[in-house]
Amino acid sequence: MSSKLIAPSVLAADFANLQRDIDMINQSEADWFHIDIMDGVFVPNISFGMPVLQAISKHAKKTIDVHLMIVDPDRYIKTFAELGSDILTVHYEACTHLHRTLQAIKTEGMKAGVALNPHTNINVLEDTITDIDLVCIMSVNPGFGGQSFIENTYDKVKQLKTLITRKNATTQIEIDGGVTNKNAKALVEAGADVLVAGSYVFKSSNQTETIKNLKAIANS
Ligand code: DX5
Ligand code: ZN
Repeated sequence: MSSKLIAPSVLAADFANLQRDIDMINQSEADWFHIDIMDGVFVPNISFGMPVLQAISKHAKKTIDVHLMIVDPDRYIKTFAELGSDILTVHYEACTHLHRTLQAIKTEGMKAGVALNPHTNINVLEDTITDIDLVCIMSVNPGFGGQSFIENTYDKVKQLKTLITRKNATTQIEIDGGVTNKNAKALVEAGADVLVAGSYVFKSSNQTETIKNLKAIANS
Protein backbone atom coordinates (compact mmCIF):
# COMPACT_ATOMS: atom_id res chain seq x y z
CA MET A 1 0.00 0.00 0.00
CA SER A 2 1.48 3.35 -0.98
CA SER A 3 1.86 5.96 1.72
CA LYS A 4 -1.14 8.15 2.53
CA LEU A 5 -0.59 11.88 2.30
CA ILE A 6 -1.46 14.82 4.55
CA ALA A 7 -2.20 18.23 3.04
CA PRO A 8 -2.63 21.02 5.62
CA SER A 9 -5.04 23.70 4.40
CA VAL A 10 -3.39 27.11 4.53
CA LEU A 11 -6.86 28.72 4.79
CA ALA A 12 -6.70 28.01 8.52
CA ALA A 13 -3.19 29.50 8.95
CA ASP A 14 -2.43 32.80 10.68
CA PHE A 15 -2.12 35.22 7.75
CA ALA A 16 -0.21 37.71 9.88
CA ASN A 17 2.41 35.01 10.44
CA LEU A 18 2.17 33.22 7.14
CA GLN A 19 5.88 32.58 6.69
CA ARG A 20 6.04 31.00 10.15
CA ASP A 21 3.13 28.68 9.26
CA ILE A 22 4.65 27.82 5.86
CA ASP A 23 7.93 26.94 7.57
CA MET A 24 6.02 24.78 10.05
CA ILE A 25 4.53 22.81 7.12
CA ASN A 26 7.95 22.63 5.41
CA GLN A 27 9.51 21.15 8.53
CA SER A 28 6.62 18.82 9.39
CA GLU A 29 5.72 15.41 7.99
CA ALA A 30 3.05 17.04 5.80
CA ASP A 31 3.23 16.15 2.12
CA TRP A 32 1.40 18.96 0.32
CA PHE A 33 0.28 22.57 0.79
CA HIS A 34 -3.49 22.77 0.18
CA ILE A 35 -4.41 26.23 -1.09
CA ASP A 36 -8.09 27.30 -1.19
CA ILE A 37 -8.96 30.00 -3.71
CA MET A 38 -12.54 31.35 -3.32
CA ASP A 39 -14.14 34.00 -5.51
CA GLY A 40 -17.27 34.97 -3.55
CA VAL A 41 -19.41 33.78 -6.50
CA PHE A 42 -19.00 30.01 -6.75
CA VAL A 43 -18.88 29.91 -2.95
CA PRO A 44 -20.22 32.47 -0.45
CA ASN A 45 -16.78 33.50 0.76
CA ILE A 46 -13.60 35.16 -0.55
CA SER A 47 -10.26 33.76 0.60
CA PHE A 48 -7.13 35.12 -1.06
CA GLY A 49 -5.71 35.43 -4.53
CA MET A 50 -2.61 35.63 -6.66
CA PRO A 51 -0.24 37.82 -4.56
CA VAL A 52 -0.73 35.56 -1.53
CA LEU A 53 -0.22 32.40 -3.56
CA GLN A 54 2.91 33.93 -5.06
CA ALA A 55 4.25 34.61 -1.56
CA ILE A 56 3.42 31.07 -0.42
CA SER A 57 5.09 29.58 -3.51
CA LYS A 58 8.29 31.45 -2.78
CA HIS A 59 8.71 29.67 0.56
CA ALA A 60 6.89 26.36 0.13
CA LYS A 61 9.20 23.38 -0.34
CA LYS A 62 6.46 20.80 -0.99
CA THR A 63 3.83 20.10 -3.63
CA ILE A 64 1.39 23.00 -4.05
CA ASP A 65 -2.15 21.68 -4.36
CA VAL A 66 -4.48 24.48 -5.46
CA HIS A 67 -8.24 24.07 -4.97
CA LEU A 68 -10.13 26.56 -7.12
CA MET A 69 -13.61 27.40 -5.84
CA ILE A 70 -14.27 29.88 -8.63
CA VAL A 71 -16.58 30.18 -11.62
CA ASP A 72 -15.09 29.81 -15.11
CA PRO A 73 -11.67 28.56 -13.91
CA ASP A 74 -10.33 28.30 -17.51
CA ARG A 75 -9.59 32.05 -17.37
CA TYR A 76 -6.81 31.53 -14.83
CA ILE A 77 -5.17 28.17 -15.66
CA LYS A 78 -2.05 29.76 -17.14
CA THR A 79 -1.70 32.19 -14.26
CA PHE A 80 -1.91 29.44 -11.64
CA ALA A 81 0.77 27.49 -13.49
CA GLU A 82 3.02 30.56 -13.49
CA LEU A 83 2.43 31.00 -9.75
CA GLY A 84 3.91 27.58 -9.02
CA SER A 85 0.85 25.31 -8.70
CA ASP A 86 1.73 21.63 -9.07
CA ILE A 87 -1.85 20.36 -8.95
CA LEU A 88 -4.79 22.48 -10.11
CA THR A 89 -8.23 21.31 -9.00
CA VAL A 90 -11.38 22.77 -10.53
CA HIS A 91 -14.96 22.10 -9.44
CA TYR A 92 -17.04 19.80 -11.60
CA GLU A 93 -19.99 22.14 -10.94
CA ALA A 94 -18.05 25.14 -12.33
CA CYS A 95 -17.00 23.57 -15.64
CA THR A 96 -19.17 23.43 -18.75
CA HIS A 97 -16.45 21.67 -20.76
CA LEU A 98 -14.66 19.66 -18.10
CA HIS A 99 -12.65 17.53 -20.53
CA ARG A 100 -11.28 20.62 -22.26
CA THR A 101 -10.41 22.22 -18.92
CA LEU A 102 -8.50 19.10 -17.80
CA GLN A 103 -6.48 19.08 -21.02
CA ALA A 104 -5.69 22.78 -20.63
CA ILE A 105 -4.40 22.20 -17.07
CA LYS A 106 -2.12 19.39 -18.28
CA THR A 107 -0.89 21.46 -21.22
CA GLU A 108 0.38 23.97 -18.65
CA GLY A 109 2.40 21.20 -16.99
CA MET A 110 0.21 20.70 -13.90
CA LYS A 111 -1.66 17.69 -12.59
CA ALA A 112 -5.39 17.99 -13.13
CA GLY A 113 -7.86 17.65 -10.27
CA VAL A 114 -11.66 17.70 -10.09
CA ALA A 115 -13.56 18.53 -6.90
CA LEU A 116 -17.11 17.31 -6.27
CA ASN A 117 -19.58 19.10 -3.99
CA PRO A 118 -21.36 16.94 -1.40
CA HIS A 119 -24.51 16.80 -3.58
CA THR A 120 -22.68 15.69 -6.76
CA ASN A 121 -22.73 11.98 -7.53
CA ILE A 122 -19.53 10.12 -8.36
CA ASN A 123 -21.00 8.76 -11.60
CA VAL A 124 -20.60 12.16 -13.32
CA LEU A 125 -16.90 11.24 -13.63
CA GLU A 126 -17.57 7.95 -15.44
CA ASP A 127 -16.33 9.33 -18.80
CA THR A 128 -13.43 11.45 -17.57
CA ILE A 129 -11.86 9.49 -14.72
CA THR A 130 -8.89 8.26 -16.79
CA ASP A 131 -8.05 11.91 -17.58
CA ILE A 132 -8.12 13.00 -13.93
CA ASP A 133 -5.02 12.86 -11.69
CA LEU A 134 -6.87 13.72 -8.48
CA VAL A 135 -10.52 13.71 -7.38
CA CYS A 136 -11.22 15.93 -4.38
CA ILE A 137 -14.34 14.72 -2.59
CA MET A 138 -15.78 17.60 -0.58
CA SER A 139 -16.78 16.34 2.84
CA VAL A 140 -18.27 19.76 3.72
CA ASN A 141 -19.97 22.33 1.52
CA PRO A 142 -17.10 24.41 0.11
CA GLY A 143 -16.58 27.97 1.29
CA PHE A 144 -15.45 27.75 4.89
CA GLY A 145 -13.01 25.93 7.13
CA GLY A 146 -14.07 24.50 10.46
CA GLN A 147 -17.32 22.80 9.38
CA SER A 148 -18.49 19.33 10.44
CA PHE A 149 -17.67 16.31 8.34
CA ILE A 150 -20.56 14.88 6.25
CA GLU A 151 -20.90 11.14 7.00
CA ASN A 152 -22.12 10.22 3.49
CA THR A 153 -18.54 10.85 2.34
CA TYR A 154 -17.46 7.28 3.20
CA ASP A 155 -19.92 5.83 0.65
CA LYS A 156 -18.74 8.28 -2.00
CA VAL A 157 -15.09 7.36 -1.45
CA LYS A 158 -15.92 3.67 -1.85
CA GLN A 159 -17.91 4.34 -5.05
CA LEU A 160 -15.07 6.41 -6.47
CA LYS A 161 -12.50 3.75 -5.59
CA THR A 162 -14.65 1.17 -7.42
CA LEU A 163 -14.89 3.42 -10.48
CA ILE A 164 -11.11 4.03 -10.53
CA THR A 165 -10.38 0.29 -10.26
CA ARG A 166 -12.98 -0.63 -12.91
CA LYS A 167 -11.53 1.90 -15.38
CA ASN A 168 -7.91 1.00 -14.58
CA ALA A 169 -7.24 4.65 -13.72
CA THR A 170 -4.40 5.94 -11.53
CA THR A 171 -6.41 8.80 -10.01
CA GLN A 172 -5.70 9.76 -6.39
CA ILE A 173 -8.59 10.36 -3.98
CA GLU A 174 -8.42 13.45 -1.76
CA ILE A 175 -10.84 14.28 1.07
CA ASP A 176 -11.45 17.91 1.96
CA GLY A 177 -13.37 19.23 4.96
CA GLY A 178 -13.74 18.31 8.62
CA VAL A 179 -10.90 15.78 8.62
CA THR A 180 -9.64 14.86 12.11
CA ASN A 181 -7.96 11.98 13.94
CA LYS A 182 -11.50 10.56 14.40
CA ASN A 183 -12.33 9.96 10.72
CA ALA A 184 -8.86 9.66 9.12
CA LYS A 185 -8.51 5.90 9.47
CA ALA A 186 -12.01 5.12 8.16
CA LEU A 187 -11.44 7.45 5.18
CA VAL A 188 -8.22 5.66 4.27
CA GLU A 189 -9.94 2.28 4.66
CA ALA A 190 -12.66 3.49 2.29
CA GLY A 191 -9.99 4.36 -0.30
CA ALA A 192 -8.67 7.86 0.39
CA ASP A 193 -5.05 8.70 -0.59
CA VAL A 194 -4.77 12.33 0.54
CA LEU A 195 -6.33 13.98 3.60
CA VAL A 196 -6.70 17.76 3.72
CA ALA A 197 -6.82 19.20 7.23
CA GLY A 198 -7.22 22.88 8.10
CA SER A 199 -8.69 23.70 11.50
CA TYR A 200 -7.69 20.37 13.01
CA VAL A 201 -4.03 21.19 12.36
CA PHE A 202 -3.92 24.94 12.88
CA LYS A 203 -6.16 25.12 15.96
CA SER A 204 -4.07 22.50 17.77
CA SER A 205 -1.44 23.57 20.29
CA ASN A 206 1.34 21.54 18.65
CA GLN A 207 0.74 21.68 14.90
CA THR A 208 3.80 19.66 13.88
CA GLU A 209 2.82 16.91 16.30
CA THR A 210 -0.81 16.96 15.07
CA ILE A 211 0.37 16.48 11.47
CA LYS A 212 2.68 13.67 12.57
CA ASN A 213 -0.13 11.90 14.45
CA LEU A 214 -2.63 12.31 11.61
CA LYS A 215 -0.11 10.87 9.18
CA ALA A 216 0.60 7.95 11.51
CA ILE A 217 -3.15 7.21 11.82
CA ALA A 218 -3.62 7.42 8.04
CA ASN A 219 -0.76 4.97 7.51
CA SER A 220 -1.51 2.59 10.38
C1 DX5 B 1 -13.45 24.37 2.30
C2 DX5 B 1 -12.01 24.23 1.88
C3 DX5 B 1 -11.21 23.32 2.74
C4 DX5 B 1 -11.02 23.85 4.14
C5 DX5 B 1 -10.83 22.67 5.07
O1 DX5 B 1 -14.12 25.09 1.34
O2 DX5 B 1 -11.95 23.69 0.56
O3 DX5 B 1 -9.96 23.04 2.16
O4 DX5 B 1 -9.92 24.72 4.24
O5 DX5 B 1 -10.85 23.14 6.37
P1 DX5 B 1 -11.21 22.22 7.61
O6 DX5 B 1 -10.19 21.14 7.65
O7 DX5 B 1 -11.14 23.18 8.74
O8 DX5 B 1 -12.59 21.68 7.37
ZN1 ZN C 1 -9.97 22.91 -0.16
